[in-house]
Amino acid sequence: MAGKDDTPPSGDDSTRLIRAGGGPRPLPRTVGPAIQRGSTVLIARAADLYDHSSAPTYGRAGLEAQAALREALAQMEGGCDALLYPSGLAAISGVLLALLKSGDELMVSDGVYNPTRRFCDVVLRRFGVEPRYFRPDAAAEDVLAMISPATRLILMESPASLTFEMQDVAAIVSGARRRGVTTAMDNTWGAGLVFKPLAHGVDISIQALTKYVGGHSDLFMGAAAVADPALAATLSDSAWDIGWSVAPEAAYDMLRGLRTLPVRMARHQESGLAVASWLREQPEVIEVLHPALPGAPGHALWARDYSGCCGLFGVVLRPAPTAAVHAMLDRLRLFGLGFSWGGFESLAIHCDPQFDKRRFRADRGGPVVRLHIGLERPDDLIGDLRAGLDAYAGR
Ligand SMILES: Cc1ncc(COP(=O)(O)O)c(C=O)c1O
Repeated sequence: MAGKDDTPPSGDDSTRLIRAGGGPRPLPRTVGPAIQRGSTVLIARAADLYDHSSAPTYGRAGLEAQAALREALAQMEGGCDALLYPSGLAAISGVLLALLKSGDELMVSDGVYNPTRRFCDVVLRRFGVEPRYFRPDAAAEDVLAMISPATRLILMESPASLTFEMQDVAAIVSGARRRGVTTAMDNTWGAGLVFKPLAHGVDISIQALTKYVGGHSDLFMGAAAVADPALAATLSDSAWDIGWSVAPEAAYDMLRGLRTLPVRMARHQESGLAVASWLREQPEVIEVLHPALPGAPGHALWARDYSGCCGLFGVVLRPAPTAAVHAMLDRLRLFGLGFSWGGFESLAIHCDPQFDKRRFRADRGGPVVRLHIGLERPDDLIGDLRAGLDAYAGR
């Protein structure tokens, strides 16, 4: 134990074993950070017990592995810090709880992830914060025209993770800034890699690391990256006050995922575009909702702002009963049916049951299926989807 005499006064094992093996020793350097498991942090000198300025004094603040992940995420996002939260939803709720107070209004894209909407409608309303929704593909001036004196924050999600509408982030942000309104964006689709919210002026770049950064469908975590140290302190204080923390093993695994993110994203992009382009040609398909596909909704904004894309997109099918959608999804062998995305595996869901909460319900002309294209061989996935579409068409 640093700074203490380890010799038990009585030579008794119960005292000896409490301290045995705890001598300070320099850590050999490995490629990954040390996984320090600790709620207690031992402070060498009594005079430093309440000095929280240079190092954590309690493990909930995060130790070596969490610090390494924060630093790496901040570098990827081009920010000064990236706060960690136990899930993507916790990162979103954490940002909103840190910045909003009773009487404030929050503007939210109507295409937002459903649990985010539920947090706004159920929890924030209970605390006197009013969410107001804007069309997920609204022109920036229409979004800005909704700002009232009570508007404190604008939360974007672009593209929307079920229907893939894009927001003109830079135009919304510059108008919001002129009016003194803070902006935040759920950038899980961009993964902090193919779109850089902070470089486009967004104040807080949020993502569910659970998806692409984790990459293996077995971890939960969220991050909020910022460029302004004062904002970082506000978010950090609030996360501390609420009591959130992230385990060192999870931070280590997340950092491991980050190392291969660019390689995996390139493959998701290439395979996703190949499958999306093929789907466009199929007679059962009305439209493919993939902003990186030329001619698709939101493509101009994607082409202006993005350096790439991920493997998540939507498909609008020709009208048919829900039973046909179920027949298609049940025929798929390589696509699992599951709500997450960003892992190595391909997934599919039927989206329509999630649309009833939306304020603006655009009729897309037929049922919407969302696909996540994993790291499998694209031709195998195409064969699987062809069989699914046969089932859809009753063949
Ligand atoms: C766009 C988006 N944001 C946030 C989340 C929440 O992430 P988590 O499941 O880690 O809370 C999800 C999860 O599906 C998502 O799709």
